[in-house]
Amino acid sequence: MTMFSKKIACIGAGYVGGPTMAVIAMKCPQYKVDVVDVSEARIKAWQTDQLPIYEPGLLEVVKAARGRNLFFSTDISTAIRESEIIFVSVNTPTKTFGEGAGKAADLQYWEKVAREILRESKSSKIVIEKSTLPVKTAQTMENILNANGKKIRFEVISNPEFLAEGSAIQDLLEPDRVLIGSRETPEGLRARQEIVEIYANWVPREKILTSNIWSAELSKLVANAFLAQRISSINSISALCEKTDANVQEVARAVGMDSRVGSRFLNASVGFGGSCFKKDILNLVYISESYGLNEVARYWESVLQMNEFQEARFVRMIIREMFNTIVGKRIALFGFAFKADTSDTRESPAIHIARKLLEEKSHVAITDPKALDNARIDLAGSGSDADFLEDPYKAAQGAHAIAIMTEWALYRSLDWEKIYKYMEKPAFLFDGRNILDHERLFEIGFNVYPLGRPPLKHF
Ligand code: UDX
Ligand code: ADP
Repeated sequence: MTMFSKKIACIGAGYVGGPTMAVIAMKCPQYKVDVVDVSEARIKAWQTDQLPIYEPGLLEVVKAARGRNLFFSTDISTAIRESEIIFVSVNTPTKTFGEGAGKAADLQYWEKVAREILRESKSSKIVIEKSTLPVKTAQTMENILNANGKKIRFEVISNPEFLAEGSAIQDLLEPDRVLIGSRETPEGLRARQEIVEIYANWVPREKILTSNIWSAELSKLVANAFLAQRISSINSISALCEKTDANVQEVARAVGMDSRVGSRFLNASVGFGGSCFKKDILNLVYISESYGLNEVARYWESVLQMNEFQEARFVRMIIREMFNTIVGKRIALFGFAFKADTSDTRESPAIHIARKLLEEKSHVAITDPKALDNARIDLAGSGSDADFLEDPYKAAQGAHAIAIMTEWALYRSLDWEKIYKYMEKPAFLFDGRNILDHERLFEIGFNVYPLGRPPLKHF
């Protein structure tokens, strides 16, 4: 068909590829967008109204474009052959084996895709790194792609995705910025311009930044490292607040009103999760070490150590306050997703906390409005003493304690008096997200343990 002015393919239909392509297709009806994936189940789900990921507003965007200029399929070869521009958004987890295990990125999926692109292509193409990748990956990709006897040329572009889950659609529609990095050769600059034009369909020009390709790759890691660092900073202060009777929310407000600091991302929590922060900081640490910059590596590594400390001390607090034993006690975890408004549980602090509570021989009742299927997968093999319940009231039935793991808005409007009646006494409430009305819960009868604020106890 010739009616489309650009043909775009996206390999990898996950949390990044799916929403990003849906928004491009909705905003640019003049382009054809083919989203492909190896997972048949995932692609099938994208073709129905039961999308494979939960993201507010996503279904409406998909429905606006699906079948018109947005197509989901497992036919990767055709999508590669027919497109001029290929976004790659396959998973790049942390390596679990061999050299760099636990730190370096596992690039096997990426490399596989590069080889598929090379095998299937009959014409020159622009290949865009959308997944987060270590700095200098583009070099490897160029080496693989351009080592061909076909006389076709591939321009590799880094266009890191800054969307946050739970607000992906909003972030894509009105991004703070779009970053497009390329080689600074004439071909590289031309390819860069082609990608700028895609986003310029709905993003104001001044928000579309261009840079050299290494800056673009590095900026993604650094943006996430800075965000994670803010959370670790405020979490470290929450521990100090608990010792000094200061209130971390009051401290965060006072600090955040300094316009040089800013007020966002200063909520103390049980720890940050998500597929990006830990992985990206590990990438930063690994690359710093590989250049012999050990002080730089240790500096960023401490952001992760603080996160682990925060999770560990939350569990220690639960055990200590519940009279130093939780054996046989039922503990309800409210929320399992790594943040609100997503079904994603990757690196969720709830995983580590649930495992530790199970190791201490407690019964864990998990409730979450969207993430129970993932929770079951995450805890498979960690003992059978976990229940998974859609209904938070059922999870609280007979519980000795509730621990808030995710800041789902619905937890604020629950009937807490009813929940209190359902529970064993004394009833404990550990608010790992500081989202509830602690004074009111205390009046109902709960012993309340916020983060970084004095506890409210009846004994
Ligand atoms: C992050 C970046 O924000 C995004 O730009 C990038 O593209 C991918 O990584 P995401 O992981 O989806 O996005 O979620 P984010 O909103 O950044 O939250 C990460 C974690 O930090 C969550 O577990 C969240 O609950 C936690 N968090 C966030 C806090 O504990 N306190 C805060 O103040 C903010
Ligand atoms: P992200 O959060 O980065 O989007 P996901 O794990 O949600 O990560 O999505 C990555 C997707 O990439 C998965 O659906 C996976 O099946 C897909 N994928 C991985 N390797 C390939 C490949 N070689 N070809 C096509 N799709 C792939």
